[in-house]
Amino acid sequence: MNDLYDRMGHQFAALIEDEQDFIANCANCSALLMSEVEGLNWAGFYFARDGELVLGPFQGMPACTRIAWGEGVCGTAAEIGESILVPDVHAFPGHIACNAASRSELVVPMLWQGQVLGVLDLDSPQQDRFQAEDREGLEALVAILLGGSDLWSAFGSSG
Ligand code: SME
Repeated sequence: MNDLYDRMGHQFAALIEDEQDFIANCANCSALLMSEVEGLNWAGFYFARDGELVLGPFQGMPACTRIAWGEGVCGTAAEIGESILVPDVHAFPGHIACNAASRSELVVPMLWQGQVLGVLDLDSPQQDRFQAEDREGLEALVAILLGGSDLWSAFGSSG
């Protein structure tokens, strides 16, 4: 993993060391991403709620509040349970343009106990902003978020 994500991983682990609330940790995760990763115009979360995705903590401009399961980049990543890296959003069929300035996107699903809890979504106004190392770094960050949060309190009853 590259230095940026290695450093951010340590920073984030320290940031959430004394806090297990999932929402609070998601909020700080989005703030850390926005301040440390260059070239972003949006970083945040959507949570799985009753078969759709609902907007969670984020940094950036106001965004679509609900995304159907299987729709857009976020809904597709939630449906397949795998990260999706989109170098050019205009070339992704069904991309949902919450912000017309966004040109590339990276979505990482959050998986726990056989459930997709939601997704982490990063947008950039630059085409081809995200590479495999960003995907790996973000997946590692999501693992720290999930590992350091009390998911039984947040999601335990819905499974
Ligand atoms: N572009 C996303 C929608 C969410 S916003 O980018 C914040 C998508 O196609 O799912």
